[in-house]
Amino acid sequence: MFDAEKFIKNAVEEAKETLKEKKTIIALSGGVDSSTCAMLVGKAIGENLVCVFVDTGFMRKNEPERIREIFETKVKFEFADARERFFNALKGITDPEEKRKIIAKVYIEIFDEYAEKYNAKFLVQGTIAPDWIETKGNIKSHHNVALPSGMMLEIYEPLKDLYKNDVREVARAIGLSEEISERMPFPGPGLAIRVLGEVTKEKVEIVKEADAIVREEIITANLKVWQAFAVLPEGKATGVKGDKRDYGYMIAVRIVESADAMTANAMNVKWEILQRITSRITTEISSVTRVLYDLTSKPPATIEFE
Ligand code: XMP
Repeated sequence: MFDAEKFIKNAVEEAKETLKEKKTIIALSGGVDSSTCAMLVGKAIGENLVCVFVDTGFMRKNEPERIREIFETKVKFEFADARERFFNALKGITDPEEKRKIIAKVYIEIFDEYAEKYNAKFLVQGTIAPDWIETKGNIKSHHNVALPSGMMLEIYEPLKDLYKNDVREVARAIGLSEEISERMPFPGPGLAIRVLGEVTKEKVEIVKEADAIVREEIITANLKVWQAFAVLPEGKATGVKGDKRDYGYMIAVRIVESADAMTANAMNVKWEILQRITSRITTEISSVTRVLYDLTSKPPATIEFE
């Protein structure tokens, strides 16, 4: 049986010994892994850990504000509002892999600025066991990463032997609420890969609203899902709103069950729930005329669309 309290005690001691008084930095996204790491290492070295939250503009509705509220009082917290930088970098880009690469590059550049500002020596990462087992990589406990400025950071991975459920247990035991400990997985590039093709501010706002509706209805229905989200495909579809023909966006809804994201099944969600989601999206978001439900499992589809 995994003992979260014991794990925390040992991990805090080990972090104190390894990191000592050295400045340490972590990219805190608000996901369960990075949040748990931030709490553990913060407990060990206090203000010597700097937690950088990057607002890409592609987070879920109200999430940047919530993450700030939750962590500002718990750890040394830096909020980087980088929305314009990300939007500008993605202008005209339609290829999914290119979008992902650009987002990763801008993210690292911003992170680098903070690492330099604090003269960080260590980088904490929320790697967990499946991350390296899946890639069949042999995790090295002390490897380094070079940032664009040439800074070398030593990587520290306190959760590397844990599985997701253990991490959730540690998260709860260290004082994080269910809002964090039970959080659904969310891709790093965020809503930018749920707006298919070119990312525009208008489309991000639409998918953000649709995503919030999907999640609200899943919570109301008390459904246990792996992930539930909205996607904005390219192209438009005809509809009729009021007594007028309309030509608007489509929203695809994806709700999947999975144990580890390696495979997944589209969930057999009750028709009434899907209808409520559809009705809310088409009435609350005026530019959407049509809602589609994705029935595809993984494989052959992936969970995300891009
Ligand atoms: P796919 O789409 O490959 O996704 O079936 C499997 C799981 O990984 C998540 N995902 C990501 N997570 N950064 C992440 O941290 C990413 O770039 C990324 N892309 C996909 C996805 O949401 C699903 O849970």
